[in-house]
Amino acid sequence: MQKEITMLDVHKIREDFPILKREVNGKPLVYFDNAATSQTPQVVIDTIVEYYSNYNANIHRGVHTLSQVATDAYELARKKVQEHFNAQHIHEIILTSGTTHSINIVATGFTNFLSKGDEVIVSALEHHSNIVPWQMLCDRTGAVLKVIPMNEDGELLMDVYDDLLSDKTKLVFVNHISNALGTINPIEEIIGKAHKVGAAVLIDGAQSCPHVKPDVQALDADFYVASAHKLCGPTGVGLLYGKEEWLNKLPPYQGGGEMIDQVTFEKTTYAGLPHKFEAGTPNICGGIAFGAALDYMNSIGFDNIASYENELLEYGTKKLLEIEGLKIYGTSKNKTSVISFNLENIHPYDVGTIVDKLGIAVRTGHHCAQPIMDFYKIPGTIRASFSFYNTKEEIDALVEAVKKAKMMLS
Ligand code: ALA
Repeated sequence: MQKEITMLDVHKIREDFPILKREVNGKPLVYFDNAATSQTPQVVIDTIVEYYSNYNANIHRGVHTLSQVATDAYELARKKVQEHFNAQHIHEIILTSGTTHSINIVATGFTNFLSKGDEVIVSALEHHSNIVPWQMLCDRTGAVLKVIPMNEDGELLMDVYDDLLSDKTKLVFVNHISNALGTINPIEEIIGKAHKVGAAVLIDGAQSCPHVKPDVQALDADFYVASAHKLCGPTGVGLLYGKEEWLNKLPPYQGGGEMIDQVTFEKTTYAGLPHKFEAGTPNICGGIAFGAALDYMNSIGFDNIASYENELLEYGTKKLLEIEGLKIYGTSKNKTSVISFNLENIHPYDVGTIVDKLGIAVRTGHHCAQPIMDFYKIPGTIRASFSFYNTKEEIDALVEAVKKAKMMLS
């Protein structure tokens, strides 16, 4: 018998999201593109309005009242991020413009630490943002990029990972959860094994943070990166968590104001953590709203979120598979609420266009993960990604829309 929702009142939660009341193409919006970006609750929108209405000012710079209020709010948000991810020190939290920025800080910073013949390991399940910066690093240093392959279910082949690891391995970077398939990777095992050969590990948490609450100390991750906009916060802000020892070793990424200690024309000395990596005026409002988004998500509770989304995943998988000729890509037992699928002999883009006419937002294409599409020999997929504010009724609407698309396109 299907387990019923007990802990999460989805209809009440939906009231928190003004956008969910709108129509698209004359139909109620069904928003299933949560892996691309999540929607924003009123409390986060209010935080943004409050900032620009009442205390918009630059931070860490002024003795005037507004600057101090804004600085306190921004640093409080950093504290919330530290607590949420359970970093040991607040200065291990660098606020960035998002996951891509965070990865680039680390990938660029490792330029002086790698030499020709060193090896770095990536997984077959990565988003382009966790491939390209490392390829660029390899081009600069002569290091060699190795890939942990995947199987048909979209799971990493861990025995091959064992074989790839050696004393040449300097860095391993994998996502916690695949954006294209939803696979949850065994990151504890990946980190533990990398550390045994002395390699550092960066975990791309862009897709995990909406679903789980990562504990960076328990994971023993060297770096953990994520974006606020995937977890009900605004775009243009995210985090780089790094162990203190690593962040102290890495050089600054950008030069500018805020990241310095003393500047003369002869020599500049740099600020300590976290400011060494925060050149220029940051996304102040975004950072403060990131803190508000974490408060909101935690008020719902990640255990509740995970169990409800799992229920949506099971329901959606079962209902979609009832459509003849529909194939789901990414069938690991250990996956989150992302369903990537195609209809036999029909281009995903055509399905996406038709379901949009019916008010349903899904992502179509390669999802910035072309190697995964190459593995399956497909141009892309239709991806429905569910959040805790989605309902089974919305899944029913998707299923009907896909059936309609199939009828029109066959
Ligand atoms: N990385 C985002 C996605 O998977 C944009 O759609």
